[in-house]
Amino acid sequence: MRFRRLINASVLAVVAVGSLSTVAASAHDARPPKPQDQSLRALAAKHGLYFGTAVDPAAYAADPTYKTTVDTQFSTVTAENAMKWESLEPTRGTYNWAPADALIDTAMRNRQLVRGHVLVWHSQLPGWLNDGINDGSIDGPQLRALLKKHITDVVTHFKGRIWQWDVVNEAVSDPWETPSAIHLGGNAGSFKQKFADLLGPGYLADAFRTARAADPKALLFYNDYNVEAFGDGGAGDKTQFVYNMIKQLRADGVPIDGFGSQGHLATQYGNYDVFQVADALQRFSDLGLAVALTEVDARSLMKNADDPTLAANGADVNARDQAAAYNYHVLLQACLLNRHCLSFTVWGFTDKYSWIPNWFKNPPEGSGCLWDAAYNPKKSLRTVQGDLAAAGPPLVDKRIPQAPRQLPRR
Ligand code: XIL
Repeated sequence: MRFRRLINASVLAVVAVGSLSTVAASAHDARPPKPQDQSLRALAAKHGLYFGTAVDPAAYAADPTYKTTVDTQFSTVTAENAMKWESLEPTRGTYNWAPADALIDTAMRNRQLVRGHVLVWHSQLPGWLNDGINDGSIDGPQLRALLKKHITDVVTHFKGRIWQWDVVNEAVSDPWETPSAIHLGGNAGSFKQKFADLLGPGYLADAFRTARAADPKALLFYNDYNVEAFGDGGAGDKTQFVYNMIKQLRADGVPIDGFGSQGHLATQYGNYDVFQVADALQRFSDLGLAVALTEVDARSLMKNADDPTLAANGADVNARDQAAAYNYHVLLQACLLNRHCLSFTVWGFTDKYSWIPNWFKNPPEGSGCLWDAAYNPKKSLRTVQGDLAAAGPPLVDKRIPQAPRQLPRR
């Protein structure tokens, strides 16, 4: 503060002594608006990067601050739930397009690009489909036919309005599941495994081909979590498995354009460093793909049985917020460093509506977003703004659009 006052005083003194000095002084002082006063979309645009968020239409309708933030801060949006199968076809044969259409209309008014989420996923399926799979009345061939119709209907309906489609989401197991060797599916006996078994190994290729036929200009992505960095390359390395899978799809001529790394991080597990993530993105983009961070958040343990005061303890909160900010920083810098990283999307921007507390309950987790529940900027937001502002050539250059697809009309 004191320093600033001194500078202002000396500028005034220079202004007083003559016009030449005035020019020099004002040029010296001329600056664009402070980064923290610019929108994320404006800061990202300098790099050709689209900065996005997941959107909850209920919050958008009910909460003016939520709406204004969506409208002004972001250049791409993803429907948090409105384009999932359970939302689009709750009753078999009857589509409910209205909420998703409204979201896209709003995005178009805001000059935002839309990520389509999601076509093929074992989760958030309509009740009638879940029931049919569970009671055996929907068998493998029927499921494959239903999926083909679903992809065709949905992609055709939104044709020309979607920039990137998450064609297949979370098809692969995790190393903590059984068996621990990564495979298509999930835990033995889980619905995720059943879904994969019914569809058979060729379903990814079919899904991408069906999507391409319905909208040749949309970018088609494989999207997953826990794939931010490579591990030891062995049987338990999920990133390696996904990499091999996509490499094979490309070799087989399957129309897959992008790799989406969700980026749901948690501070209690520590951090990757920037170059581990940059290396992973590079290996995927070296396959000829675009890459994107698609669902970023960085959650923390709020309290647990050992320390029920954790959430209220200032020192812990400070450390937690810094760790969360560092996670955002690592993912964003890795994205900035890769010219094929087209978009960086956060999975909600305020703790007020975040999915985290509803999903990670035991032990309770939260505080994963850029703004807190009262829309105060958190360290994570300041870090992201700073990263976008401070980056530039020669190591951070403009994005390279994924050829030969095109941006939706605006
Ligand atoms: C989440 C939504 O945020 C929640 O509202 C919903 O109850 C469950 O799904 N990976 C994904 C997203 O691909 O679709 C999930 O979204 C979060 C994890």
